[in-house]
Amino acid sequence: MIKKCLFPVAGYGTRFLPATKAMPKEMLPIVNKPLVQYGVEEAVEAGIDNFGFVTGRGKRSIADHFDYSYELEHQIKGSGKEELLTTIRSLINNNKFTFTRQNEMLGLGHAILSGQTLIGDNPFAVVLADDLCLVDDGGPSVLAQMTKLYNQFRCSIVAIQEVPEDEVHKYGVIAGEPMKDGLFRVTDMVEKPKKEDAPSRYAIIGRYILTPDIFDIIRKTKPGKNGEVQITDALLQQAKDGCVLAYKFKGRRFDCGSIEGFVEATNHVYENYYKQGRN
Ligand code: UTP
Repeated sequence: MIKKCLFPVAGYGTRFLPATKAMPKEMLPIVNKPLVQYGVEEAVEAGIDNFGFVTGRGKRSIADHFDYSYELEHQIKGSGKEELLTTIRSLINNNKFTFTRQNEMLGLGHAILSGQTLIGDNPFAVVLADDLCLVDDGGPSVLAQMTKLYNQFRCSIVAIQEVPEDEVHKYGVIAGEPMKDGLFRVTDMVEKPKKEDAPSRYAIIGRYILTPDIFDIIRKTKPGKNGEVQITDALLQQAKDGCVLAYKFKGRRFDCGSIEGFVEATNHVYENYYKQGRN
């Protein structure tokens, strides 16, 4: 069973400057809830109850969000506003939140390796909170779909989405052998390829299940694209040594690391969740 989830949240969020100058990108709200809380709720739905955050300087508000705020609670006690804190209070009461820092921004692979102290020798999920994944019809969350697959196949799994040809350069892109509907065995992976070099249009999005041998592989992985230690390179090695699966998830993903995706997600959540009393 997957019980732990890692959130690499050390990035600078430069596409959202100046909003992210003193505030983490992961705390930007989609309507009335910060992005990171959507990620945590998705993981809780998958049965995860232990959350590790790889943070950096200027990210303390994430730790504060997942902790009690006695003054605030005292202030609103007995008023109608108390219920606005019900969900976050229940998340705090029923789960464990731990934090470590990535001292240097050396890439997503390096950020995940920095989280090893929080994860130990366990298979774990990774959520990039700026990818908001929603399943509008009330079906299992994207991470719940992936943990179910993990229980069957017991190997690392990346979530993939088909993207237009002129967008492949923004993603890690896979090549794979189809296994069953929406599931591929990875044979190749390229980080941010030019469209003529992309092995497919299946882009890796910010949801992963990783087996703990990935830590040793990352340790041996040399810096790749943009001089960063890329998780894609480590996963390709893992695929060559054993098995990595790619899963075309059911649901919708919003790229909230971009202004357009963020606005689209805000409108979607407002119309389909907030106004319907679903969030
Ligand atoms: P991004 O490149 O999308 O995030 O990294 P960013 O750097 O914060 O955003 P921009 O491009 O400057 O606007 C993907 C994820 O990996 C984390 C980021 O926090 C983000 O969640 N990350 C990336 C780290 O934690 N450490 C790193 O060294 C690199």
